[in-house]
Formats: sequence, C-alpha cells, structure tokens
Amino acid sequence: MTAQQSIQFKAPRSLDLPSALTFAQQISAAPDAEEYVVDFSGMGHVEPFSMLLISSELRNLARRNHGPKLLCTDFKQCTYAAHMGFFRSFDLAYGNAPGQAKGSENYLPITIFDSREVEREAFEQGIEVGNQVESISKRMSAVLCGSDEGDLFDTLAYSIREIIRNVIEHSGAERFGICAQHWPTKKRVEVAILDRGSGLRSSLSRNPYIDVSDDKKALNYALMPAVSGKAFKGSRVNTKGNWANSGFGLYMTNRICRNGGNFFIASGATSMLLTRGQGKRYYDCSLDGTAVRMVIDTSVLTGLRDALGRYREEGYEIQRKYKEIVSIDPSSASLMLSEDFDVSVVDRILVKLKRALG
Ligand SMILES: Nc1ncnc2c1ncn2[C@@H]1O[C@H](COP(=O)(O)OP(=O)(O)O)[C@@H](O)[C@H]1O
Ligand SMILES: [Mg+2]
Repeated sequence: MTAQQSIQFKAPRSLDLPSALTFAQQISAAPDAEEYVVDFSGMGHVEPFSMLLISSELRNLARRNHGPKLLCTDFKQCTYAAHMGFFRSFDLAYGNAPGQAKGSENYLPITIFDSREVEREAFEQGIEVGNQVESISKRMSAVLCGSDEGDLFDTLAYSIREIIRNVIEHSGAERFGICAQHWPTKKRVEVAILDRGSGLRSSLSRNPYIDVSDDKKALNYALMPAVSGKAFKGSRVNTKGNWANSGFGLYMTNRICRNGGNFFIASGATSMLLTRGQGKRYYDCSLDGTAVRMVIDTSVLTGLRDALGRYREEGYEIQRKYKEIVSIDPSSASLMLSEDFDVSVVDRILVKLKRALG
C-alpha cells in the first residue's frame, strides 16, 4: 500500500488534558504519509503536560520509518509554547531549544534528560544514581519555588525525585522529558514527566502476584502501596539501602497531589486522573511509555515529613488488608482497584468481599 501524500492536523484551541490526549491519539494513529501538516492557528491555551505530550508525539511522527516531512503553519502567536521549547523539541526552528529558557520565574521549560548521562554523572561522582536524581530534583524544585527550603520545596523535590527515579529504574527509556509551571497567585504547581520506555504493564509483569493483563489493571496496581515490578516476595532485588524499591513511590506521590490538587498517569491505552472527592476518571490514550502529571495545591501543604508519615501508615494498613484479600482469592484483589484507596473504602470492600466469599 502506498502512503498517502499529505495528512492535515489542527491543534485544538485549548490544549487542556482531555483535548491533549485526544490530539495525541490522532497524531499517533495517523497512517503513514509523505507529509504531515499541523495548523496551530487556533491554539491559545497550553499547559506543561500537554506541551510535553504533543511535542513528543510530533517528534515521533517526524521520525517514522521513512522520515516524512512535518510542516507547521500559523504557529508564530504561540509565544509561551515557543519560549518553553515546545516547537524545537520536535525540531521546528522556532523559539527556544528544550532546556534553553533559564527557567527562572517559577517555570521549567521542556527539558530533556539522557538517562545514561544521569547514570554516568552519578558514577563519576562516586554517588548512587538515586542521589544524583535527588540533586537534579532539588535543583528543579528550587527553580519552581524560588527558594531551596520550605514545605513546597520539600514536597516538589520529593515528588519529582520519585517520578524520575521510576523512569531510570523501570522504564529503560534512553531519554525523558520534564516541564513544569508554578502559578503562585493560583496557588498551583503543575509538573509533567514523560518517557517513551517500556510502560507500566511491561515492567509490572515481572511481578507474578498481580494480574496486569491490561493497561487499566497495571495503572491501578502501580498506584497501590507496596506493589512493585521489582520488589516482591521472592524477587532478587536489594531491599536495603536508601534507594531500594518498595512500591511506595507512586502511592506517596499520588497521595500528596490529591491533597487539594490531582494526579494523572498514562501508560499504554489507558490513563487515569485521581482527584480527592471525585475519585478516578479514566481516559483513553495511546502512549508507548509512561507519563505523569502532578498538580499540587500549594495552599494546603503541611510539612512533608508529617504528611509522608501519615500516608505511609495508611499505606501499610492498606497493604495488610490487600494481602488478606490476595490470600482469599487473587482475582478479587482487582475488585479493590475499582475504588479509591482510602482506608475506609478498602474496609468496605473487604467486608463485601468476605461476605461474597462466605
Ligand atoms: N516510568 C515507568 N516506566 C515503567 N514502569 C514504571 C514506571 N514508573 C513506575 N513503574 C512501575 O510501577 C511500579 C510502582 O512504582 P513505585 O510505586 O514507584 O514503586 P517502586 O519504584 O518502589 O517499585 C514500579 O515497580 C514499576 O514496575
Ligand atoms: Mg519508584
């Protein structure tokens, strides 16, 4: 079959989460063509996550097997996106290159990291990769906060660190991108991190105790406390040391975000938005790899240590109950995943399950 000559796309007016996901799907599902044309004339509002996702899709499109032409039209008015490195991250010569904008004034432009480079830097300094990731995260957090101390700094440094660690420890991706913005007057921070690695389902499939036969299950398991693709009973991983895997990274970060903000994670064909009080909402997507968006409400932050302590306690309690369910019937565990992770909800489900099982 010969490729079509030209395929046109129109960027949505507002690149919020749902429209960015739909647009990304359109791009990735496009048949092979000799030329792709993207019309940016209507595009006004953009957000860090949508810029990261769409620029990554367009970059992939431009690198399809026979190297099609990627033409963009009417993009000059997209000055914020241009400043953030959006266009140059898929090689359109307009605006800043990724990482070029200084990233002061509470934002981080699209910044691309080379995973091997991060590992090499750690090796050269004789430190563990986790420490190197921590220092990168602290640097970015300081830029976003305009300070290198305080609750917001600690919370962002911790959350960014856990998500980047996951890319390096689990995804196998050679590169990953990050983009973020802090709006002090709105008391809101958005941080987006995206990789094109193995995705959640593939990395979690190493754990024989869970059923990750589809992306939706994998998303839910990934967020559960103490569920990991590396650390599980009988696995041969180091369970000691500061940077051992324990399956708490995504659980803790999603708890932090749901305290007033929200947490979004996409991998494969499914993505999930978690908002306190509104539960889970699923969106279709098509993402080879994993993308996370953390939205933090800065007006309700308490000390990170206390918050993490509380979440960890609840996490262990949920884990304990979860284990009970798993020992009753492995497939029942997935029932629990259709609900939120609050301990009270877990209790209710446990009672229901026990009743159902007699
Ligand atoms: N970026 C990613 N790419 C692939 N798999 C991931 C990614 N992030 C998380 N995962 C999967 O989700 C699991 C849970 O992550 P997390 O809660 O941080 O626990 P841990 O990293 O301690 O295993 C990981 O063990 C891994 O299997
Ligand atoms: Mg982790």
